[in-house]
Amino acid sequence: MPTLIYVLNGPNLNLLGKRQPHIYGHETLADVERDSRTVAAEEGLEIRFLQSNAEFQIIDWIHEARETAAAIVINPAAFTHTSVAILDALNTFEGHVSEVHISNVHKRESFRHHSYISHRSDSVLAGVGTHGYVLALRHIGKVVREAAR
Ligand code: DQA
Repeated sequence: MPTLIYVLNGPNLNLLGKRQPHIYGHETLADVERDSRTVAAEEGLEIRFLQSNAEFQIIDWIHEARETAAAIVINPAAFTHTSVAILDALNTFEGHVSEVHISNVHKRESFRHHSYISHRSDSVLAGVGTHGYVLALRHIGKVVREAAR
């Protein structure tokens, strides 16, 4: 059975491709999901690819992942910089947590330089565009294979 990975996307990422394309690029979230599914299949992973604008929904999905998933890829979007609640939820999860940011948050406004999520993240990818999702899944594939040895 393929190993299940949750790929969680926070607020405004449903508008990817239309939203500030000079920062976030022209790819849509559907494009990101397609590429993520291709790479996940190559790595022997199954993904649940989800997006919500609501903090509680992301927390509920993390709780769901606790029961079923080996890893979480999360782009918490603006909740990165505000949400102790998402950090607390991730702290209840025992598998690998990979934090993804399409933009290089450290090159941007100072309020984006702090991530509550990074207090828990095992890996962080920022500034490589939507390719960050693919790189996160490749890394998780390696982590899962090494754990099975
Ligand atoms: C983001 C960076 C955040 O600062 C921002 O609020 C987002 C997207 C990124 O992917 O670069 O919505 O997480």
